[in-house]
Amino acid sequence: MAYSEKVIDHYENPRNVGAMDKDAQEVGTGMVGAPACGDVMKLQIKVGADGIIEDAKFKTYGCGSAIASSSLLTEWVKGKSLDEVQAIKNTDIAEELELPPVKVHCSVLAEDAIKAAIADYQSKQ
Ligand code: FES
Ligand code: FES
Repeated sequence: MAYSEKVIDHYENPRNVGAMDKDAQEVGTGMVGAPACGDVMKLQIKVGADGIIEDAKFKTYGCGSAIASSSLLTEWVKGKSLDEVQAIKNTDIAEELELPPVKVHCSVLAEDAIKAAIADYQSKQ
């Protein structure tokens, strides 16, 4: 199976790899696993007082498509409101990265992780 150039770019130069303090009130953490393959993705957001996402970080233990999906998503969410981010679909990610059908679940992982991060953030407010 061939990876698209965009996947390879994010895989080789992942954006926003790292971690934030999960106990901080302004940080939301989402950690999800894919039952199909065992890959695990952690995505974190830091939300400003104005409700806009200031920063995002990820750590993904998984395939190239999962790493690329989370890397791309951390870029997309910065500067957006939580409502705007809720509207991002895994299909947007799959389309941008030109994921083949067998790799679409990797983008689902990213959507699930960001939704879990938002839910975690909201539960702390
Ligand atoms: Fe092997 Fe995802 S299936 S890393
Ligand atoms: Fe399972 Fe990519 S193969 S997340």
